[in-house]
Amino acid sequence: MKTLSATALAHPNIAFIKYWGNRDNALRLPSNGSISMNLDGLFTRTTVTFNSSQRDLLLINNHAVMGKGLDRVSYILDLVREMANINERAEVSSSNNFPAGAGIASSAAAFAALALASSRAADLTLSEGQLSRLARRGSGSASRSIPGGFVEWKMGAGDDDCVAVSIAPPEHWALTDCVAIVNASHKKTGSTEGHALAWTSPLQSARVADASRRLDICRNAILHKDFEAFANIIEHDSDMMHAVMMTSNPPLMYWQAATVGIFHEVRAWRASGLPVGYTVDAGANVHVICLADHAKEVEKRLRDLSGVNDVLVAGVGGAARVIESA
Ligand code: PMV
Repeated sequence: MKTLSATALAHPNIAFIKYWGNRDNALRLPSNGSISMNLDGLFTRTTVTFNSSQRDLLLINNHAVMGKGLDRVSYILDLVREMANINERAEVSSSNNFPAGAGIASSAAAFAALALASSRAADLTLSEGQLSRLARRGSGSASRSIPGGFVEWKMGAGDDDCVAVSIAPPEHWALTDCVAIVNASHKKTGSTEGHALAWTSPLQSARVADASRRLDICRNAILHKDFEAFANIIEHDSDMMHAVMMTSNPPLMYWQAATVGIFHEVRAWRASGLPVGYTVDAGANVHVICLADHAKEVEKRLRDLSGVNDVLVAGVGGAARVIESA
């Protein structure tokens, strides 16, 4: 084995057309396709080093993690060990520059960086599609943090072609995500458990049946830089996903009062001519998407709202990349 250690960096992504629910939980094959953009400036940096120790070790922001978190990482490492035909255990050291588990897709960046760093450390050179598939096994949305810019994760017929591809590079459209943080604490129900509940909602089948229409509208709005169509479809899609969450059994309610307050503000701002739209992942924080030229104004307005503790600002990010390998 030539390479033993590699460090990779990946951005989180924000979904415009959401992934919620699987048709195969073990392989994380989604019930519908999804579209997202990578978030520049926010990242997970992960170093994987294969060594002679007895077990895998996971450090997140320098703290050892055991239990389910480590099991999920070992699961990806096992897939890599199988592909590379090696048995060595690994030390995985990961750090984020944004709060984890608060609806900012920390698992997407984490598993994209892990897939890239671990495969490179094992001396494998995987294609973008293979990396996207591997990342998907850790967290579905991680498949979308492998390619750069604006990304579509295709449902595919099965495991092999269920991969994400870039539909436009970062420089295609200067959008900015102003993430209004209303609650930075770790969410109570993670998305893995949430996906398993999706089909308990009678609304999920309608959401899934209508997905290709929403995907077409969103893809076209991005390709033609039609902000009005884009804002309308991302809000509609986000609201649909949360309607499924709220009506699942047991119900999931990620929104807080401040979350809903921001929806009203954003719609009023758009009606008065400011190009903004909202979308929310599995958390309470609101991703307010705007044209980059208006980001300063949007950030200022969000900071002035009661219940908003902080605002993270991110442009369109590039692909996951290796930054060191030895
Ligand atoms: O990849 P997961 O299992 O963390 O699920 C992500 C789910 C949402 O963030 C709510 C939607 C999405 O498409 O990213």
